[in-house]
Amino acid sequence: MSTTTNHRVLSGMRPTGQLHLGHYHGVLKNWLKLQNEYECFFFVADWHALTTEYEDPHIIAESVWDMVIDWLAVGINPGSAKLFIQSRVPEHAELQLLLSMCTPLSWLERVPSYKDQQEKLKNKELTTYGFLGYPLLQTADIIIYKAGYVPVGEDQIAHVELSREIARRFNYLYGRDPGFEEKAEAAAKKMGKKNNRMYHDLRRDYQEQGDVMALDKAKALIESQQNISIGDRERLVGYLEGGGKMIFPEPLALLTPASKMPGLDGQKMSKSYNNTIALRDSPASVEEKIRTMPTDPARVRRTDPGEPSKCPVWNLHEVYSDEDTKDWVQEGCRSAGIGCLDCKQPIIDAILKEQGPIRQRAKEYQDDPETVRGIISEGTEAARDVARETLEEVRQAMGLSYR
Ligand code: TRP
Ligand code: SF4
Repeated sequence: MSTTTNHRVLSGMRPTGQLHLGHYHGVLKNWLKLQNEYECFFFVADWHALTTEYEDPHIIAESVWDMVIDWLAVGINPGSAKLFIQSRVPEHAELQLLLSMCTPLSWLERVPSYKDQQEKLKNKELTTYGFLGYPLLQTADIIIYKAGYVPVGEDQIAHVELSREIARRFNYLYGRDPGFEEKAEAAAKKMGKKNNRMYHDLRRDYQEQGDVMALDKAKALIESQQNISIGDRERLVGYLEGGGKMIFPEPLALLTPASKMPGLDGQKMSKSYNNTIALRDSPASVEEKIRTMPTDPARVRRTDPGEPSKCPVWNLHEVYSDEDTKDWVQEGCRSAGIGCLDCKQPIIDAILKEQGPIRQRAKEYQDDPETVRGIISEGTEAARDVARETLEEVRQAMGLSYR
């Protein structure tokens, strides 16, 4: 891949309820890491939420700001990541519309989540145009920023795959604008006499002899140019490879390691299992939830020995406890030396400790909604600048620049 914009990371989250510890240990910790390594765009996917919540959308409005506060509270840094709300960048919708013109229906119908979710969410009417278009909207979200990497869970990989296919198809259909060769030649001249000659030599070596080293060298040459626009850069890469201009780079999915966070019942923590601890659950609620967690069913009385591997509390020790504590649990459980409430106390303490600073920061943001709105406004403006620029390029490529 060629241009520096490819180091951009983009991801979105649907605002459909409170974030919980599973989100923290999976997605958010991953975002925290990425924000230090890449230019990141993280957004609230409110339109995506609407595809399934359209009958009763109040949950979206209720969740949007809390979700942003949760992000900030865990340490997502608006100084490095751009945070925004999807519906405030209407360019996503325009791009989805334009892409819809050249997207075969069958590509959308065969995305696995389309049928899967319809099956799973039987109580909702999901045979809608909007729901079928879900992955196309997601494609627009991604490629409008020319993002190179998209951190997502397993269930979203197929959507990123689709966005690669659509980017490729778009480049194929519209990458060859009139005067493409002249423009590419003009762009090559802008690199200076010596670089221009080198570019042409390398291009010839690649196109005539398939010299891949020459291709790489030429790409590095383009990459190293400070004074040419992104448009020219893409033209030069396209001309080099023998295709048209590469308008959309193909994004890569960055698979988020599956969250190992167990829920209160031993299954994975998930809203649909109703086994969650919210990121900002009150200490009293955390205590209550852990104290009433099921344990090894063999431990009916305090004097009955148990087996940690049959107990959901043990799964939480695996996340939160050090080796000493775990030894104490193993030994105490099997010998009935400790009671289950004793065993649960270190978990309660660990979760409260983890939540402490998060709750504190969340409260500061909650008490200062102006700051939160300001962060989103700034992020939205930054996102819109990029989105507008891409869309201008797309309109040109599609021949819509007569207006
Ligand atoms: N569909 C994603 C999910 O449900 C959310 C999302 C929307 C997204 N647009 C995106 C994720 C773009 C990554 C990139 O989790
Ligand atoms: Fe589970 Fe701990 Fe009770 Fe053993 S002692 S059954 S590990 S809660």
